[in-house]
Amino acid sequence: MAILKIARMGHPVLRQVASSIEDPGAPEVRRLVADMLETMQDADGAGLAAPQVYVPKRLVIFSVSGARAERAAEEAADGGSESEEAEEEVPLTVLINPVVEPLTEEMTAALEACLSVPDLAGSVPRYTAVRYRGLGLNGEEIVREATGFHARVVQHECDHLDGILYPQRMRDLTSLTFTSELHAQARAEAAE
Ligand code: NI
Repeated sequence: MAILKIARMGHPVLRQVASSIEDPGAPEVRRLVADMLETMQDADGAGLAAPQVYVPKRLVIFSVSGARAERAAEEAADGGSESEEAEEEVPLTVLINPVVEPLTEEMTAALEACLSVPDLAGSVPRYTAVRYRGLGLNGEEIVREATGFHARVVQHECDHLDGILYPQRMRDLTSLTFTSELHAQARAEAAE
């Protein structure tokens, strides 16, 4: 296993449409997933898409602990969002050739960050409920319905496969913020 370098906004690999994985069971896919897991954990990310490690293939991984989901819900509230996103844990999921379909027209905005856009966060509208399907690491078909933060993470990660980063999904850039400023403001509010 190895910790991989993460591509940052501006690198062309993040703008390209990734290609399907033809043989999900191939040893190189397994190796890539193992390295992506280690990279995501090292970077303390909730998800990672293969193009972020310079591999333009349709593969994402994600995992959300209860603590992180709770933090996300709090940050969404701090961001003035009206959302009541569920504090839902997301099991560690490997998704090959994923397809995401919205189950509602309803969207809600909440803060997102991305390992490829370091030190920043911004408010992004996402569908509140989606169904996603894809193949797991053992070739099994995964079909799940997701809401709240879970749905948000899936939409964010799968956007990477189409060359889309979250700032492109923002309706305006007013909420684009350095995370260090967010933390400073949170500390100031806590001190009041
Ligand atoms: Ni991202």
